[in-house]
Amino acid sequence: MPVSSRQAAYLDALGVTRYARRAAPSAASTAPEVLASQAPAVVAVPRPVAPVQDVTETPATDPAAAWPALHAQIAACTACGLSRTRTHTVPGVGDRQADWMVIGEAPGAEEDARGEPFVGPAGKLLDAMLHAVGRSRRRGVYITNIVKCRPPNNRDPAPQEAQACAGFLQRQIALVEPKLILAVGKVAAHNLLGRDDPVGRLRGQVWQWQGRVPVVVTYHPAYLLRSPLEKRKVWDDLCLAQDVLERSAG
Ligand code: URA
Repeated sequence: MPVSSRQAAYLDALGVTRYARRAAPSAASTAPEVLASQAPAVVAVPRPVAPVQDVTETPATDPAAAWPALHAQIAACTACGLSRTRTHTVPGVGDRQADWMVIGEAPGAEEDARGEPFVGPAGKLLDAMLHAVGRSRRRGVYITNIVKCRPPNNRDPAPQEAQACAGFLQRQIALVEPKLILAVGKVAAHNLLGRDDPVGRLRGQVWQWQGRVPVVVTYHPAYLLRSPLEKRKVWDDLCLAQDVLERSAG
C-alpha cells in the first residue's frame, strides 16, 4: 500500500518506522510454490459455540429498523452480572456500511460513562491507526467490542460474559457485512477464532470468522501504549488487512 504524506505524518505520530515495501516479484520470474509459501496462511477455524442471547432477527433488508431494535435489546440485557455494574451499554459506533469491522475486548471507564467504544487514550491511538490507512470511525470502519458492558476494574471479560454477548456481536456482523474483521488484542482474537495462542503468533495470518469473514489480528492499542516498540508491527497488520480487501475486490 503506498504511503501518502498524510499517512506518513500519522505513522510518524504513532512512532511507526516506515520501511518501503519490496515490489512484488513478477509472476513470470517467480515459481508458483514460492508465491504460495509467501502468501499469508488462510486458516479455517471452528465455529464458535452457539450464542446464548436470543437476538431477534429483524430483517437485514430493513437496517433502519434493525439497528434501533438491536441497540434496545443490548440496553435491556441482563444476561450476565456486568449488567449490574454498568453505567451505559456500549453497543458500537461507526459506519454501518463499512468494509472493516474493528473488534476490541470490552468498554473501559470512559466508554462506560459515554456509551461509545474506544474513547479513552487507547481509542485515540486506535483512531490514529485507522487514520493511517485512510479510515475513521465515521468512514469505512464500524467499531465494537466482544462484550457491550464494562467489566469491573477493567478486568478481562469472563468466557460466560463473552458468550452472553455473542449473539449481539453476531447480529452486528450480519448487519454490517464487513469484508474484513480487525481483531485488536487477545480477548477479541481468542473469542473470534476459538484459539488461545498469544497475539504475536496469531498476527501475520488471515483467519476466517465462521468460515466467511477474513480476520486479521493485531495488538490492542492499550498494549501499544505500554509497549510502544510494538507499534511498528501494527503497520504491517494494517497493510495485511488492506491487502486482503484488495484481493477480495479482485
Ligand atoms: N478497550 C477496548 O477493548 N474497547 C474499548 O471500547 C475501550 C478500550
